[in-house]
Amino acid sequence: MKTPAAEAPASEDVIDLLIKQHAQIRDLFLAVAMSGGLERRKAFDRLVRLLAVHETAEEQIVHPLARRTLFGGEGIVEDRLTEEGMAKAILAELENMDTDDPRFLGVLNQLRGDVLTHARAEERYEFVGLRAQFSETERRGLCAALRAAEAVAPIHPHPGIESAAKNLLAGPAMALADRVRDLIRDAMKRPKSGG
Ligand SMILES: [Fe+2]
Ligand SMILES: [Fe+2]
Repeated sequence: MKTPAAEAPASEDVIDLLIKQHAQIRDLFLAVAMSGGLERRKAFDRLVRLLAVHETAEEQIVHPLARRTLFGGEGIVEDRLTEEGMAKAILAELENMDTDDPRFLGVLNQLRGDVLTHARAEERYEFVGLRAQFSETERRGLCAALRAAEAVAPIHPHPGIESAAKNLLAGPAMALADRVRDLIRDAMKRPKSGG
């Protein structure tokens, strides 16, 4: 049965999807901390992929819109970008570390604190105000762009494509973020009247 456009399911709302990703990020931090050896490596790879997709989508979709439309948007976005920049620096440090390195959990915990504080600030200062700014068509289009970005960087790769996903990860998270950025830009250039 087809869902009418006016009653699009929650998963079609880009803000709902971003909030869901915040919860997934929280769970993945726990999974990395609670595991060891190869399992920790795999969980950390999933976390890096999800963070790359999620933060890049926010940089391309959420922050520009917040800057333009929210009261005090400039300052709100500057604060969020500062937080993201700090998290990226810690993430780069972790990526250069073996997941079994005795220092790994300490740095991971620092990143976790920063990322979760950042996510709460986004939900409170950006998402609430922004939900009203998206039209139904825009929400669907932006959500589709985010899904396409996820497909480029599979968060839960099928065992058969694990090696392909590994190749994608061979470069730093920055390279992945570049690809995601291009995809989202393409999706946002499409005419908005099409849906
Ligand atoms: Fe963010
Ligand atoms: Fe976020």
